[in-house]
Amino acid sequence: MKRTEIKAVLQQGDVGTRVKVMGWVRTKRIGKNVAFIAMNDGSTIKNVQVVVDTTGDFVKLLENVHTGAALSVEGNLVESLGSGQKVEIHAEKIDLLGKADPNEYPLQPKKHSLEFLREKAHLRFRTNTFSAIARIRHAMIFAVHKFFNDKGFYNIHTPIITGSDAEGAGEMFQVTTLDLSNPPKDDEGNLNFKEDFFGKASNLTVSGQLEAELAALALGKVYTFGPTFRAENSNTTRHLAEFWMIEPEMAFSDINDDMDLAEEMLKYVIRYALDNCMDDLEFLSKRQQDEEKNKKADERSMELIEKLNFVLENPFARITYTEAIHILRNSKPNKKKRFQFVIEGWGADLQSEHERYLVEKHFKTPVILTDYPKDIKAFYMKQNDDGKTVRAMDVLFPQIGEIIGGSQREEDYNKLYTRMNEMHIPEESMWWYLETRKFGSVPHAGFGLGFERLILFLTGMGNIRDVIPFPRTPQNLEF
Ligand code: 4AD
Ligand code: MG
Repeated sequence: MKRTEIKAVLQQGDVGTRVKVMGWVRTKRIGKNVAFIAMNDGSTIKNVQVVVDTTGDFVKLLENVHTGAALSVEGNLVESLGSGQKVEIHAEKIDLLGKADPNEYPLQPKKHSLEFLREKAHLRFRTNTFSAIARIRHAMIFAVHKFFNDKGFYNIHTPIITGSDAEGAGEMFQVTTLDLSNPPKDDEGNLNFKEDFFGKASNLTVSGQLEAELAALALGKVYTFGPTFRAENSNTTRHLAEFWMIEPEMAFSDINDDMDLAEEMLKYVIRYALDNCMDDLEFLSKRQQDEEKNKKADERSMELIEKLNFVLENPFARITYTEAIHILRNSKPNKKKRFQFVIEGWGADLQSEHERYLVEKHFKTPVILTDYPKDIKAFYMKQNDDGKTVRAMDVLFPQIGEIIGGSQREEDYNKLYTRMNEMHIPEESMWWYLETRKFGSVPHAGFGLGFERLILFLTGMGNIRDVIPFPRTPQNLEF
């Protein structure tokens, strides 16, 4: 008999039909004449209940059925009274596909801490929380591609190994095949990268933007969706060393088009999650409320689904950095020195505590901040006429802080060239980027959305290590 997925059984299964399901045991409960096995196969967060006669042949087999074991079950669908589902399976044939010794299997049917589960990343997919996150992650990958495809953007694969440092800031991971125990040196005693694989120093990319710009200046509208790498030694709940970034880039567009696209995209994918992931969102909502039940009422998060709808229904506030500094300087936590980094004046870089104050306390809606001081932003951003600010735009979200960073790009060759010199960006490694400003240069703009930060927001999870299957963070490279 052919296998049916549990999602289909629960949605479409008719009482009286015979089915075969395969999955992993979540719980086993022995009753008087029957045993109840809750089985999950990953197709949905819901388990199917299998009812097994304990009076007959199954007695011996049931002794080996424990949480984590894999089963194949054939039987008839019967109406379910107690399981919360329409139907359950009355087992007639059971095969134990894979045992799980209860003395060794780490995931028992009780609450495990997220810290504990991080150490069991090879098994944590089998919990409700992590399977829900994995399904939502998938849905969001699909929604991002659908959004851009439907709008006529082309997906571009940009390189992962690079000879340039796109942001001119972030720490990069070096890529080398040199023998580090006996590296070749040049005449001055420095590492001789001429003998390295590429004949020069190379790194893992921090962003696909620069190459996406090249493509946009021919194809019009493009986007990348790839892994990016940053060797920042910041052990926060919002930073990974390896994360995924979505980077659209549009020719013939300015910072306003960029903000419009960012807002439209975020709302589209959130709507997609509400339309397609409700079972998982409802589970995560309950989970979050459970987690926060000991907090004071005003410290609790907005209910997850309400929060998602709230973002959909309200326009994002759009203000300049200068206006934001004004608000922050006059804010209570700044005056009472309750911010860890007190804002002294114009020019300060904003920390996530400031971003969250603006979003959560002041505007109570997502905020797009524009026109940052040029000294705290990358070299490629379009310079404003004031000589002090650039056409940057960061989207700030509740609970997350910065979720998107982007800008209109400097399209003027001389201004870009001068800024690169000021910021010590070597022309030799970036000549190709500069050349696009010589040949048919046009206004263009783009941004980068941190995919894991989006998933943090959608799932209500508190730590970025829990929204990517195998997080890469300092001192952590298991799995
Ligand atoms: O603001 P960032 O550094 O911008 C860029 O890389 C631009 N090249 C993007 C562009 O204009 N095409 O990074 C963009 C976003 C951030 O807003 C944040 O959401 C995410 O990437 N991000 C990280 N996410 C997880 N871990 C990290 N270490 C991150 N660093 C940035
Ligand atoms: Mg940024």
